[in-house]
Amino acid sequence: MKKKILMVSPECAPFSKVGGLADMVSSISKQFAEDGCEVKIFTPLYSSIKRPDNMTKYMDNLSVHMGLGIEEFAAVWNAPLGKAEVYFLEFNRYYDRPGIYNFNSISYDDNGGRFAFMARAALEFCLATGWYPDVIHCHDWTAGLIPVYLNTTLRQSPLGRTATVFTIHNLQHQGVFDRGVLEYAGLPQSEFRSDSCESYGALNMMKGGLYNCTKITTVSPTYAKEIQTQEFGCGLDGLLRFRAGDLIGILNGVDTQEWNPATDKRIPANYSVKKMAGKAECKKALQEKVGLNVDDKVPLFGVVSRLFDQKGLDLLARIVQPLVDNMNIQLMILGNGETWLEDSFKNLTSANPGKVASFIGFNADLSHLVEAGSDFFLMPSRFEPCGLNQMYSMIYGTLPIVRRTGGLSDTVEQYVEGKGVGTGFVFDNATADALYNTIGWACSTWYDRPNDITKMRKNAMSADFTWSNSALQYDQVYDWAIASRSLGM
Ligand code: ADP
Ligand code: GLC
Repeated sequence: MKKKILMVSPECAPFSKVGGLADMVSSISKQFAEDGCEVKIFTPLYSSIKRPDNMTKYMDNLSVHMGLGIEEFAAVWNAPLGKAEVYFLEFNRYYDRPGIYNFNSISYDDNGGRFAFMARAALEFCLATGWYPDVIHCHDWTAGLIPVYLNTTLRQSPLGRTATVFTIHNLQHQGVFDRGVLEYAGLPQSEFRSDSCESYGALNMMKGGLYNCTKITTVSPTYAKEIQTQEFGCGLDGLLRFRAGDLIGILNGVDTQEWNPATDKRIPANYSVKKMAGKAECKKALQEKVGLNVDDKVPLFGVVSRLFDQKGLDLLARIVQPLVDNMNIQLMILGNGETWLEDSFKNLTSANPGKVASFIGFNADLSHLVEAGSDFFLMPSRFEPCGLNQMYSMIYGTLPIVRRTGGLSDTVEQYVEGKGVGTGFVFDNATADALYNTIGWACSTWYDRPNDITKMRKNAMSADFTWSNSALQYDQVYDWAIASRSLGM
């Protein structure tokens, strides 16, 4: 069945992006639209969004009914994304800001109101335009109140039979706010209970979404299991075990229009598994650009990441000095996040000119060059719901070094020494020692078993990370959700 799907998301690449959520929402939408579904993406119009030429005003006065008798008026802008359509919610009080969730690492203190408003406005948009989707696909906590509205105040509305699929991209961020936000959202205070939106005396938007949605997905099969344990459940593991029968892990796919070394316009030379010469050119260009010694013999280890606890890059910061003292390697770090970690990579760069380089900030062009120009890619995450960068790096023939967790363990196949089997190097413990030793293993493979590196590159570049298989699974989840909702669930 060709469905009508509404994606509700705080980020959508290439317009607004903090991490992989933006890529996933954009690529799954394009895929379903390509397959003939009617796909609309509803997302805020932040001031940092560069408006494309084909963006037009779609609605001037969308009336948004919040609680406490508040009625606000917002505008909606429209632009195509492949065959999907993006609808941008313009409401300056909340979104005319440079950051999506925060500015200079400090969260906006009205995030509860900002995203309750986005959720409510998405539903008002459907009601006002008479477009009733079969499924509303809610992405992370910011869309968490949508299933709650559909089960309460909007149950009798034309949207009351719409199914909801809630995707957990990252359980660590749950959207926890004062209960006053529930009142502002216009939801009944009776939802402030532990089997809906309440958690430890506060409003928890993620929890509300997870209790009330029709079906739950997360972004890899391993993370789907992990979040049902106390260790990874971030306090919601009990709820996820309770809903285990409605929960499934589906690996994210990659947008191969954006990420393909054979066609990528952001890199200086294109290459493919059959014609690898361009990769060496990319390495040289990267070394020149970021101030590393130009040398094709030395293995280059790259990082592109948010610099937060989740990513385990504090482990790397601790061992950079011994690594470059003891091994003949180069490192390039592109990232931003916690100030102390940014500073420590800056200091390590000044202390090791030509061997360590860093760019602190967000830079999409450079991220493609790091993927293409590096030989290895470091991702020592403490947890990783899916992870896109390790897939991008494999597509670019850059071998990932990852911790065995979440989507990393579902996508990277361990190297078998001397056989050239595998697509990367996998380790278990989230310790600096384990990371050091694994980088050492990769380094000795580079120098002592170069044929294995060549074979692994081929393996990595031939792996299928397209949406074809995952989209099929999402389609089944949509069908399953629609069938359950029609039975009143
Ligand atoms: P997460 O969403 O947890 O940050 P993913 O691996 O799923 O991790 O996705 C990260 C995405 O964000 C990738 O597209 C990556 O290239 C991009 N990214 C992260 N940090 C930066 C940065 N500093 N500059 C450019 N792109 C970045
Ligand atoms: C989150 C996760 C990341 C995942 C991305 C897209 O940001 O941290 O692992 O790849 O969402 O689903």
